[in-house]
Amino acid sequence: MKNKYQDLIEQTFEFPQEEFEVVNNELFFRGIDMMSLINEYGTPFRFTFLPQIGRQIEKCRDWFKISMNELGYTGKYQYCYCTKSSHFNFVLEECAKHNSNIETSSAFDIDIVISLFRKGLLGEDTYVICNGFKTEKYIAKIKELIDLGFDKIIPIIDNFAEFELLDEFIDTPMEIGIRIASEEEPKFEFYTSRLGIGYKDVAPFYKWKIKGHKKFKLTMLHFFVNTGIRDNAYYWNELRKFSNVYTDLIREDANVKYLNVGGGFPVKNSLAFEFDYQYMISEIILQIQTSANSVGAKHPDIFTEFGSFTVSESGGMVFTVLDQKRQNDREQWNMINGSFMTTLPDTWAINKRFIMLPINRWNGKYERVFLGGLTCDSDDYYNSEQHINAIYLPEFKKERPLHLGFFNCGAYQESISGYGGIKHCLIPSPKVILIDYDEEGNIKHELFRKEQTSEEMLAILGY
Ligand SMILES: Cc1ncc(COP(=O)(O)O)c(C=O)c1O
Repeated sequence: MKNKYQDLIEQTFEFPQEEFEVVNNELFFRGIDMMSLINEYGTPFRFTFLPQIGRQIEKCRDWFKISMNELGYTGKYQYCYCTKSSHFNFVLEECAKHNSNIETSSAFDIDIVISLFRKGLLGEDTYVICNGFKTEKYIAKIKELIDLGFDKIIPIIDNFAEFELLDEFIDTPMEIGIRIASEEEPKFEFYTSRLGIGYKDVAPFYKWKIKGHKKFKLTMLHFFVNTGIRDNAYYWNELRKFSNVYTDLIREDANVKYLNVGGGFPVKNSLAFEFDYQYMISEIILQIQTSANSVGAKHPDIFTEFGSFTVSESGGMVFTVLDQKRQNDREQWNMINGSFMTTLPDTWAINKRFIMLPINRWNGKYERVFLGGLTCDSDDYYNSEQHINAIYLPEFKKERPLHLGFFNCGAYQESISGYGGIKHCLIPSPKVILIDYDEEGNIKHELFRKEQTSEEMLAILGY
């Protein structure tokens, strides 16, 4: 009878996959022997496999190149990394190595750009797209960047008042963009995104305030739909409205030469994940090309600001099952040595699923379980996968600890839960391991930061 965990996976999915394989009942992720990391560092730990960041950037550039060539599109493609997905220096350094442009969201983000510039990792010719609500501090930082010689900073106007503030603080000529507020999906709690300026108001605002302005030139239109880039009627409809605003502006003689389609590329969140990136890119380019041709405009350069896509697949989190609690005939809880709420907050806040796989004991019989986190909060649990409303894992055996990996969770988790600081039930931030290749192309790893200590937390609390 086929009742081993490995049988279950092989019967449910195509397996092994590009990034996962099992050798002697233990999981390897992108060639990394996960068990050897556990033996060396102990769990729980977060890890980042740095080379994956550059691979994502290059893969995306290739897709755009292929589609642009096929369609005869004459504009360029510009990859930007959206810092809010993971602000860590090691992530930004990888992006900089691959000449990614940067999208910022707040004043402190600009300090990241300045820090990379001072280290010689970013040139002044990097596009810095400044999104988000512009406070005075944020605008002061934008000015600091201009003073450092950055000449491709494009603040994206989010609301009318922001334009006045920018006018007050900035005294040199500068290109600006406008973010178009998309309409939310029908099932959402409100109709129009609070971010950006409504479709109908963009062209009138341009005529009223920007056309002929002595400092500011509108060169970029920006849009981002909350649900991300998906092949559905809602997305294509929003893209069409965006393209219509673009053609209206061109008819008004605006020099819009960049179209920024934001972030939102999906990320593999299950072994059954399928998404045709190349097709989506071709369709987006085709729509933009058709719009530009319809008004006789030069094909605009296309910008993206992929956050999750850039960094998710490089990151993971590893736990060990501490014990099993059977609460009734059907519910048995595998208690992990960490917390979902504090390390993978999206699993709790927006019910996000990641790829979850055991690291060892793939030859064990499988059983259905719930996973419980260490905080006393009843919401600190994980009990379903993207493809199925349940979790199956090798049977719990006290004497043979079971280790679990959550993969492709490199984006947003620390920005949302906080890193260091205080945590629910004072569960410490886990250690962080960085993985890379050495000069010979072999896997190497190092501890980036050890697990947070009680002293560190208590000091924050004033003890
Ligand atoms: C303006 C903007 N650009 C880019 C992104 C990145 O989105 P993602 O991580 O889905 O690529 C976001 C995410 O909130 C955003 O608000």
